[in-house]
Amino acid sequence: MKLGFIGCGKMAAALVKGVLKSGFCEPSDIVASDVHAPSAQALAESCKIKIVPTNADVTAASDTVILAVKPGDAIAALQSASGQQVESNMRWAYTTTADSNTKLLLSIVAGLPLATIEPAAGNFRVIRVMPNTPALVLQGASAYSPGTRATPEDTAVAQQILGSVGLAVQVKEPLLDAVTGLSGSGPAYIFTVIEALADGGVLMGLPRDLAMQLAAQTVAGAASLVVQTGQHPSVLRDQVASPGGTTIAGIEALEKCGVRTAFIAAVRAATERSRQLGT
Ligand SMILES: NC(=O)c1ccc[n+]([C@@H]2O[C@H](COP(=O)([O-])OP(=O)(O)OC[C@H]3O[C@@H](n4cnc5c(N)ncnc54)[C@H](OP(=O)(O)O)[C@@H]3O)[C@@H](O)[C@H]2O)c1
Repeated sequence: MKLGFIGCGKMAAALVKGVLKSGFCEPSDIVASDVHAPSAQALAESCKIKIVPTNADVTAASDTVILAVKPGDAIAALQSASGQQVESNMRWAYTTTADSNTKLLLSIVAGLPLATIEPAAGNFRVIRVMPNTPALVLQGASAYSPGTRATPEDTAVAQQILGSVGLAVQVKEPLLDAVTGLSGSGPAYIFTVIEALADGGVLMGLPRDLAMQLAAQTVAGAASLVVQTGQHPSVLRDQVASPGGTTIAGIEALEKCGVRTAFIAAVRAATERSRQLGT
């Protein structure tokens, strides 16, 4: 399958590296474009993929196009990718036009609803996706919703691509803002947790490198336990919190600091921000 990326930023890089690492694609199967030449060059150098000068060239060379630009750039990028606008507000001149007939577009743009994407997407069949950056290490979590023109085969393609880099689930579109608030933005919450755990270790006398290693592995190990055993996190927690022991003392401190309320508030704030981006 020929995959095209419009935008070569952080999320595109994670997906490109993920699909290559998983063996889903070879470098020769991937083309990309970006108005910011250094981003495109960096991805080409690290992954040996082909960079083409325009978004229309990406469409022409791909079966499936992944739209990976910021929300404010998405409509212009879509119009150029689908050949509807030549020399729109892009930073370089077009020499080709695209035919988006028979092509599938996966939009990973946060907040942008299908009702906005589809009219701007020409003949593309569209699936809206919310991935996350652990796709880079094949531990991604993605949810997707097919648009009105997407076929069951398109849904299978989305499942194949996203499933090659981690968990992939189909959801109804109204849930995608909450997905954004939880798993789309979630890696950043957990990076904060890892850093804070390491700071705690340093405060209590551990060397910084060791504290960081232990913190990251503890988060990874705890997450794997939940995923692999299928047990509820509260069951796993109760198993390690012995009466009068160290763990329950730590949990009391977390609860006093409102840790649950803080994470719930983070998901709510990011979900609401995603909704705002779509209006
Ligand atoms: N990063 C995440 O963790 C994450 C997770 C889930 C979803 N997403 C979504 O993924 C999308 C990309 O995010 P990101 O973090 O990868 O952004 P990013 O690092 O800023 O990358 C976007 C790239 O697209 C370029 N671009 C802008 N307009 C373009 C156009 N018309 N045609 C081609 N390229 C264009 C940008 O260039 P300039 O910088 O010069 O504008 C930039 O290099 C966003 O919509 C975001 O909501 C991100």
